[in-house]
Amino acid sequence: MKKPLAMAHDFLAEVLTPDSVVVDATMGQGFDTVFLAKKAGKVYAFDVQKQALVWTQERLARENLVANLIHAGHEQVADYVKEKIDGAIFNLGYLPRADKSLTTQPKTTLLALEQILECLSFGGRISIMVYYGHEGGQREKDSLLDFVSRLPQKDFAVMSYQALNQINQPPFLIMIEKLGKAK
Ligand SMILES: C[S@@+](CC[C@H](N)C(=O)[O-])C[C@H]1O[C@@H](n2cnc3c(N)ncnc32)[C@H](O)[C@@H]1O
Repeated sequence: MKKPLAMAHDFLAEVLTPDSVVVDATMGQGFDTVFLAKKAGKVYAFDVQKQALVWTQERLARENLVANLIHAGHEQVADYVKEKIDGAIFNLGYLPRADKSLTTQPKTTLLALEQILECLSFGGRISIMVYYGHEGGQREKDSLLDFVSRLPQKDFAVMSYQALNQINQPPFLIMIEKLGKAK
């Protein structure tokens, strides 16, 4: 069976083309940025930690890939991305091998998500990996679930994919697709 992260990538890969514009809202160690850079034409990746940009740039260079690495919070996405967005990924929580107290936050996560939804192209997709075992994670999970559950059904398909029999708090995936066709 597919793990949630593999599902998150496959869900995006199905709609991405070399013309796609995509956002990695939480760059971290750059695994998702590299994945997106292989599938899409233009990648914008955000992180508040300089270390994330260093690791991600190294990872991209090793594979001869390019992406726009932005040292800013994803809540500023609309200041940097002016095109329609075809795909986006969030990988919530903290940066492994760095300061674990610096985590994504409910308010800024929702601000970023709202801005990306606003610019999402028809058929565009968003994968959100929810890690919530850390301090404050439960609050972020609850506010996200509350927000996405209320997205209008005629405009967005919203699904989740999660393990039901794992101990602790295994990460799970929220998938969003914007419905409709370009006029
Ligand atoms: C779980 S890690 C991301 C993992 C990453 N996608 C990867 O492939 O390695 C979460 C990241 O979100 C970053 N972060 C926290 N708040 C943020 C914000 N407001 N905007 C952008 N990134 C943020 C953290 O610095 C951390 O690097």
